Amino acid sequence: MTAHTTTLKIDDKVVDLPVREGTIGPAVVDIGKLYAQTGMFTYDPGFTSTAACESKITYIDGDEGVLLYRGYPIEQLAEHGDFLETCYLLLYGELPTPTQKADFDYRVTRHTMVHEQMMRFFQGFRRDAHPMAVMVASVGAMSAFYHDSTDISDPYQRMVASMRMIAKMPTLAAMAFKYSIGQPFVYPKNDLDYTSNFLRMCFAVPCEEYKVNPVLSRALDRIFILHADHEQNASTSTVRLAGSSGANPFACIAAGIACLWGPAHGGANEAALQMLQEIGHVENIPKYIAKAKDKNDPFRLMGFGHRVYKNYDPRAKIMQKTCHEVLGELGIKDDPLLDVAVELERIALSDPYFVEKKLYPNIDFYSGITLKAMGFPTDMFTVLFALARTVGWIGQWKEMIEDPSQRIGRPRQIYTGAPRRDYVAMAQRR
Ligand code: SDX
Repeated sequence: MTAHTTTLKIDDKVVDLPVREGTIGPAVVDIGKLYAQTGMFTYDPGFTSTAACESKITYIDGDEGVLLYRGYPIEQLAEHGDFLETCYLLLYGELPTPTQKADFDYRVTRHTMVHEQMMRFFQGFRRDAHPMAVMVASVGAMSAFYHDSTDISDPYQRMVASMRMIAKMPTLAAMAFKYSIGQPFVYPKNDLDYTSNFLRMCFAVPCEEYKVNPVLSRALDRIFILHADHEQNASTSTVRLAGSSGANPFACIAAGIACLWGPAHGGANEAALQMLQEIGHVENIPKYIAKAKDKNDPFRLMGFGHRVYKNYDPRAKIMQKTCHEVLGELGIKDDPLLDVAVELERIALSDPYFVEKKLYPNIDFYSGITLKAMGFPTDMFTVLFALARTVGWIGQWKEMIEDPSQRIGRPRQIYTGAPRRDYVAMAQRR
């Protein structure tokens, strides 16, 4: 809804631009007609001041450290609900009734198997391939296995593709893990809940019965809730842009996985643990703090800072609590990495550099310690992030596809290259 207009004066031109208010959060100036009226573009390469779309799914207040999924605070969803309830909420906008939840769980459970030929697809990878490379490839390959759910104009096919993505990500993630450690794949079991099923597919072996630890399963389920969606972050924006061309949902999610892999984004949980291992002991922290503050040193404190949160990432608080819960359940009394993390956080939060730049621990700071304690190797951390974020990517993709005003995304640029010039024959070049 347009609230009012604002006036922009550029040289001798004065243009009226509509201002739109959201439900909560910053209003927007609609510049859609700016180029037509002024012949000028706006310039915002990191999109720090740009709203690329309208969405009803997730709201973040970076100053207050607030995260809402469809209006519900992340703290309450993580405390009281389970991951599939959050999936339903993100996809359909409301908390499910008991009947709706049972039906949703049933449908997801019965899409968890992957086409048997995908096992052969996996055999083509080297055993030491990074699991994220395997995930990008295998999710992209789903459009080669599930042709009957790639027509995005068909609401039924969109629903089937969404359920398949949410349901099969744990199976593919577990297969990527098993393949990397040379163990046989484990099929999903329909009598297990979503996250218990995933843990069993990762850690069960044919030689003995695997008993799911309910405390660990609940903790990982909560970790999935924390990672489910996060407004227009880099990977979600990638999925939206890929989807805006009409690409099939599997290809769009594969693009999102590729973007998430970067260490500045979802790859930070793997990088944060590697950083803690490199620091090794609390006495080495000052040296790394100095490196992080050194403008000439590319080193950054991985797991710190955020484009939006200029206060504590609300997910990091829950992550830290879950970390202690998991270490306690596993009887890990003094984890040196946790000692380094806690001391690093204490020092950083009192250091003027971090205070002035509002750099706080983000979701990736404590997740690595937790996942390592659960038995996941470091190169699986971002795979777990992608598993959980799949519902957010699918939900945002669905919202965009179902928006009647949706058009292909096509940003412009400011050109600073060579002006027009004529070709020079080879003989004339010096
Ligand atoms: C995720 O967008 C999302 O919502 C992402 C995410 C999600 O759920 O989808 O929340 C998940 O990606 C979390 C972020 C994980 N990344 C990391 O932990 C990597 C370390 N953090 C940084 O790379 C950085 O903080 C970013 C990428 C997260 C944010 O980068 P910005 O917003 O572009 O900030 P910036 O790089 O411009 O930094 C601002 C200043 C700079 O100093 P000046 O040039 O102003 O002097 O802060 C400094 C930076 O040098 N700075 C850091 C720092 N992060 C920023 N200095 C040391 N250590 C850091 N971690």
